Amino acid sequence: MSHVVNRPAAGASRSQFYAELDQALAGLVAGERDAVANLANAAALLYAWLPELNWAGFYLVRGAGLVVGPFQGQPACVRIALGQGVCGTAAATRRTVIVPDVHAFPGHIACDAASNSEIVVPLVRDGRLLGVMDLDSPRLARFDAEDGRGLEAFAARLVAASDL
Ligand code: SME
Repeated sequence: MSHVVNRPAAGASRSQFYAELDQALAGLVAGERDAVANLANAAALLYAWLPELNWAGFYLVRGAGLVVGPFQGQPACVRIALGQGVCGTAAATRRTVIVPDVHAFPGHIACDAASNSEIVVPLVRDGRLLGVMDLDSPRLARFDAEDGRGLEAFAARLVAASDL
């Protein structure tokens, strides 16, 4: 298979963008179930394709909390407790959390001072929490419900394709 994936044209609608992102992920994980490999390529794909990001990656359930996994961006805080920050809130509630202004989110954990908005999507299999997918942006209100739906589909494919 080819590892070269072309980013959608600038004029693509967001539904087309997320459809192409999903197909690119499908190509990257085809025939591979290793979690580190798939999460690393997924983080690189997100970071390369989504405009206006300064961090994209994963925190994985380890014991009673979350530990940083594969990502792109500045070095990040390593451990996050369930219920703590945006990641810990998404993990504890198992719901996607969209934060238009991280400075207004009580308990937000600032890993990179450039971040102004954030979306966190839980990774869940058969009702069991595996981790979260976290994207940060320097732009306020960078993420909306359509991004949430596209990224939830992305996370679902990644969970299904990987031995997490
Ligand atoms: N801001 C996150 C912490 C992780 S970093 O953004 C990479 C939070 O509040 O959970």
